[in-house]
Amino acid sequence: MKNKQLVITHFAETLQDAARIVEIDLPRLRSSQLLIKNTYVGINALYDRELYRGRVPYINVQFPYVFGVEAVGEVVAIGDSVNDVQIGQAVSTVKVGTAYQEYQIIEAVDIIKIPEATAAYLTLNPTGVSGYLALKNTAEPKEGETIVVSAAAGGLGHIVVQLAKQKKCHVVAICGTPEKVRLLQSLEACDRIINYREEDIAEVLNNEYTNKIDVGFDSVGSYMFDAFLANLAPLGRLVVSGLATELTAPQFEQVTGARVYESIYWKGASVRCFMNHLFREQQPEARSYLFDQYQKGELQVKVDTTTYEGIEAIVDASHYLLAGKSCGKVVVKL
Ligand SMILES: NC(=O)c1ccc[n+]([C@@H]2O[C@H](COP(=O)([O-])OP(=O)(O)OC[C@H]3O[C@@H](n4cnc5c(N)ncnc54)[C@H](OP(=O)(O)O)[C@@H]3O)[C@@H](O)[C@H]2O)c1
Repeated sequence: MKNKQLVITHFAETLQDAARIVEIDLPRLRSSQLLIKNTYVGINALYDRELYRGRVPYINVQFPYVFGVEAVGEVVAIGDSVNDVQIGQAVSTVKVGTAYQEYQIIEAVDIIKIPEATAAYLTLNPTGVSGYLALKNTAEPKEGETIVVSAAAGGLGHIVVQLAKQKKCHVVAICGTPEKVRLLQSLEACDRIINYREEDIAEVLNNEYTNKIDVGFDSVGSYMFDAFLANLAPLGRLVVSGLATELTAPQFEQVTGARVYESIYWKGASVRCFMNHLFREQQPEARSYLFDQYQKGELQVKVDTTTYEGIEAIVDASHYLLAGKSCGKVVVKL
């Protein structure tokens, strides 16, 4: 059987340069393994970009390198020694270097059984899981606190604002288009929504949230980070969850100014970075909470409605996300 894959063949600045589509014969299944037909894959274009530029320090990329992290799909063949999985079982898989292909072979112990192989479950695991873990371990929001979330209508952001509202926080959501504003309104989780293309973000935070940000949850960086930092509350936590503006620029912006402690020392505030793979042992807890909340209708999952289909569409979906257009989680249907 043939398997179509998107592989990185060498490090380069653009996805078109770095990657190409190949078709290979599927290897034989070992007795402990499963063959999965991927039905949806999640697009993590900012992370992928670092990968194909050779800048993810903890990944040893051997060419040709299949990339992509998360997929949902169905079991189509089972190794001889696997006895707790049936053909047709819907599964979620999360492993760096596995997703952008039509089929994947995976150790049976590494799958997560899910009720159906939908884009919603793909969003919950691992994007939702990251949001849950970042809040629990890094942001630590408490009832009554003010949390400000950037890229709030994106795959990660729309889960974070809902989980923060569940903690009874005052939720301020920032996004960049009217469509994203509508998505955020539909969640009924945000107390203030700011479209930064219509309102100046620094001005709004300086005026309405002067020294009142208990948690800044930032995935954008640069001007957004600065605006959050300037308005941290005493004991405030500024969580660096992503660096979209820096990672899409040719290089990190070089700034001259006082070191970061100047703005936070007297407030006892902190700047904290979140990195999802460092909380692996808590992933089962996060998944079970999110799946349960979703099944009870307590958590909405938003998937971007732009249709991308087939391995060939991964490049377009990636460009779309890098252009900052994502409204909910960007997925490709295979
Ligand atoms: N640290 C971790 O472990 C971890 C885990 C998962 C995700 N992340 C990070 O979390 C962020 C969200 O991930 P996601 O996959 O859910 O993406 P996403 O939020 O769906 O898309 C990124 C969003 O960032 C905003 N953005 C602002 N400046 C941008 C720029 N220069 N280029 C691209 N986007 C820009 C855009 O929203 P607006 O226009 O509304 O601002 C865009 O829609 C990413 O930065 C990702 O790297 C980190």
